[in-house]
Amino acid sequence: MTNDMSSVSLAALADRAPAPERSPVRPADAAAGDIELSIIIPTFNEIGNVEELVSRVRKTLVGVSWEMIFVDDDSPDKTADRARQVARGDRRVRCIQRLGRRGLSSACVEGMLASPAPYLAVMDADLQHDETILPRMLELLKSDQAELVVGSRYVGGGGIGDWNAMRASMSRFATRLSRLVFKQDVSDPMSGFFMLKREVLDNSVRSLSSLGFKILLDMIASSSGKLRIAEVPYTFRNRFAGESKLDNAVLWEFGMLLADKLVGKYVPVRFLSFAAVGGAGVGVHVAILSLLLNAVGLPFTTSQASATIGAMVFNFWVNNFLTYRDRQLKGWRWLKGLVSFMLACSVGALANVGIASYLFENKTQWLLAALSGVLVGAVWNYAITQIYTWGKPK
Ligand code: GDD
Ligand code: MN
Repeated sequence: MTNDMSSVSLAALADRAPAPERSPVRPADAAAGDIELSIIIPTFNEIGNVEELVSRVRKTLVGVSWEMIFVDDDSPDKTADRARQVARGDRRVRCIQRLGRRGLSSACVEGMLASPAPYLAVMDADLQHDETILPRMLELLKSDQAELVVGSRYVGGGGIGDWNAMRASMSRFATRLSRLVFKQDVSDPMSGFFMLKREVLDNSVRSLSSLGFKILLDMIASSSGKLRIAEVPYTFRNRFAGESKLDNAVLWEFGMLLADKLVGKYVPVRFLSFAAVGGAGVGVHVAILSLLLNAVGLPFTTSQASATIGAMVFNFWVNNFLTYRDRQLKGWRWLKGLVSFMLACSVGALANVGIASYLFENKTQWLLAALSGVLVGAVWNYAITQIYTWGKPK
């Protein structure tokens, strides 16, 4: 009896079932049109550009169902507040605010992952990228002439605008270096302006280095197989408001990205950076030691102790600036970091001497014994300071 009842009502329900919708999870009161294109805007201190950027994109993308996601690294100038203010008046605008983090690439990746759109664009906030080519880029993807479209300064019709000779030649040099990590024919792999199909992200996102600011290069180098890439020319404009965030340290980050793509499978590139800084630290140690011992005439123990402290401070300072640029400690946390770094390295030094002496006493050749001690000490220092000095703030 019960069985009959349920089969009857099921049949009745099936009769009345509405035709399947395009998106099965789409509620009846959803706003018209699915999101087609998300534009990801990484920001750090760009408060003066937010409104102008949104208004220009509104004008350009008429007829496109777009959204814009600002990914702000807790800018002191309160860019995130301004983006949210604009978002209150326009639902197509959103803001992700990251705390205690820095990094253009990782910001772009997180923005893209937060978007549901089938087409994703990355663009700077400062209006140096010409937003009027966005419709053309989208068209190339939708007509499947490409799966990745790069806004390029180096194809016919494009240009680098007002760059000085130094910056222009550095950019060309970096472009040539980037050939080390991928074989595709792209005139401007350093571009921070591009659009892609979601599948391109899906295919590369787990292999991305997300180091530094060359997200496009990272994505091309991390994709398995050849991508179908198109380039659309544009002329790099002058900044609308604010200042550039790219300083000399980005060269180091660029080197880290290339190194990660080349040898990252075998050894963490942060460790290489940490070890390189440690190598420079030995030079600092020797310089301080010889200065105090020979020029000032202090006793050996005092000189050696001072050199050790000096080298530790140097290592901490440089690692904080280069190796851990994306989690850089500042102010009070800098001092706490220094203390934990020195504690960790003191234990590392004991381990170094202990291992080396043990090996030496057991008939290992002196240089090999010493180098083994150094390696064990370095790995220890790296592992411990990664967690305690540059780990996530509580
Ligand atoms: N979230 C976040 N975090 N955003 C950042 C960070 C960061 O640490 N650093 C920079 N940005 C944002 C800026 O606010 C800006 O919107 C964008 O990234 C580009 O930064 P700029 O400081 O304007 O860089 P640029 O103009 O010198 O360099 C541009 O051109 C290069 C090509 O030569 C960028 O597009 C580079 O990606 C590009 O390689
Ligand atoms: Mn810029």
